[in-house]
Amino acid sequence: MCGIVGYVGTRQAQDVVVDGLRRLEYRGYDSAGIALVVDGDGDVRIAVAKKAGKLANLEKVIADTPLPASTTGIGHTRWATHGAPNDVNAHPHLGFGRRVALVHNGIIENFAELRERIEADSEQLGLVSETDTEVAAQLLELQLASDVDLTEAMQRVCGQLDGAFTLVAVDAHDPTRVVAARRNSPLVVGIGDGENFLGSDVAAFIEHTREALELGQDQVVTITADSVSITDFHGVPQEGRRYHVDWDLSAAEKEGHDWFMRKEIYEQPRAVADSLLGRRTAEGLLHLDEMRLSDQELRDIDKIIIIACGTSFYAGMVAKYAIEHWCRVPVEVELASEFRYRDPILDYSTLVVAISQSGETADTLQAIRHARTQRSKVLAICNTNGSTIPRESDAVIYTHAGPEIGVASTKGFLTQLVACYLLALYLAQVKGTRFGDEITQVVHELEAIPGHIESVLADDAVVLELAQSLVGATSVLFLGRHAGYPVALEGALKLKELAYLHAEGFAAGELKHGPIALIESGLPVFCVVPPRGRDQLHDKMLSGIQEVRARGARTICLAEEGDDKITPYADVLIRLPAVPVLLQPLVAVVPLQLFACELASLMGHDVDQPRNLAKSVTVE
Ligand code: AGP
Repeated sequence: MCGIVGYVGTRQAQDVVVDGLRRLEYRGYDSAGIALVVDGDGDVRIAVAKKAGKLANLEKVIADTPLPASTTGIGHTRWATHGAPNDVNAHPHLGFGRRVALVHNGIIENFAELRERIEADSEQLGLVSETDTEVAAQLLELQLASDVDLTEAMQRVCGQLDGAFTLVAVDAHDPTRVVAARRNSPLVVGIGDGENFLGSDVAAFIEHTREALELGQDQVVTITADSVSITDFHGVPQEGRRYHVDWDLSAAEKEGHDWFMRKEIYEQPRAVADSLLGRRTAEGLLHLDEMRLSDQELRDIDKIIIIACGTSFYAGMVAKYAIEHWCRVPVEVELASEFRYRDPILDYSTLVVAISQSGETADTLQAIRHARTQRSKVLAICNTNGSTIPRESDAVIYTHAGPEIGVASTKGFLTQLVACYLLALYLAQVKGTRFGDEITQVVHELEAIPGHIESVLADDAVVLELAQSLVGATSVLFLGRHAGYPVALEGALKLKELAYLHAEGFAAGELKHGPIALIESGLPVFCVVPPRGRDQLHDKMLSGIQEVRARGARTICLAEEGDDKITPYADVLIRLPAVPVLLQPLVAVVPLQLFACELASLMGHDVDQPRNLAKSVTVE
């Protein structure tokens, strides 16, 4: 949710922190703030600037009233939980004596009780904001008053907090260190040369270093210019896992595109190709690098439950079609936020597959934890190395999309689909439910997908024109069948997220059971037409299209090249390359992503930072 940056070194902390916030702004953009430890000839103090709204507002404040020089600082970009997104609630929050400044991501669940305790103690400790964070700042300052250093104060305070949090703090009495803590909320350390960094993710410091340190659960980390030390909340020393970040600054920049989302849409051929790389042995067998489950464990699986949220959930819906078809194992797909509340039936022979681009989604993480307490194995499909979800899972398949910064997922989704297909084929190989040459055939078809996506993108003129013609639309429907149904849902989600339109996706066969009542003259209806190879599906879809058209809908049909049967019933025709039905989502979703991006852009919306949203949802 929120983005957090910390820095100690020799550069101007303000520049490093603000640059880091700019790269993390996709995590939340309700307000932004910075705190620096300023050493003015022995008079050490904390200087703070914060402002509601996007980072640009904070930058203006700093430009109008420059902060003093400093080489130690923290910063925050907020997605509001407690308290409205205004200047007062913006982070950093100060302790009562302005000795501590603190930024926070997450929710401190027992904050009301802690707040009452603080307010009962003294009026001097009066809190000025409505946030849970300020409570933690006051607690830190109280601990510091009892003559411990910031590291120990942080350990003691974390012991009192319930909930999920990343906290990062500075102490005016010690300009050499920044101290942070994490529980159920992301935080990574960037290792520099004579400088060190903290960030919600590596984008915060990728410009300066690609060496990172992954922290475990319930840990406190102290960085100085030339040291990093980690303890648990009781002060017992701990080790972090060091890793090299395999993408660089250019991946986190727009490279000539006006939106990250548009750049990420056009990057999809490469992202899909990268996610397929190195998955086959010299003998032509599939192998999955980080699959830490043995073949026997996989053979013993008799049920799969896929858990995920949002777009990742739709990738899970496609996975169900593929796994059941190729492996003959029953698959349930469940919203992670609902999973543990329905007392699901799980045991050691159930494989739980958790799909998450960010690897930090709280709903998915809690569902994973629940599954593991029931002895089920969990396999994560994730795009973010070093994130919590793969760390807490038994096995992982990493997608190789590179950093996804646009809030609306695009290349994240396509690479999740690739990982799901690979998982399904791998299971089929291990369980022997498909012959080797059948598996090889599908892998070849997958390897042809990047070229197909290129051709869809090269044909973007029709989508751009369509977006222009639909500015002003208030409602849009999406229909699909089979693997095209999740595509319809994803098309509708993209439009809701970005264009703030009423958009709904339906299984085309369900239309006559109710939703057809929504059809009225001129209503745009996108129809994802199955390939002709599946005649029954194709023809049923055709009937659905005729039904809505007969009632005045404007049909926008996505159909494969050469499908002439569809032509008379399409007001607008978007051509797709011919691919097997199970793989069709990889090409069919692309025009829908592009359409949502263009329409939102034409409507004057901020495509990368849609209202009320944040990239990774680290609160339940
Ligand atoms: C997609 O466009 C969304 N922003 C959102 O639905 C997202 O897919 C969902 O929050 C899950 O995120 P994750 O994949 O990082 O777990």
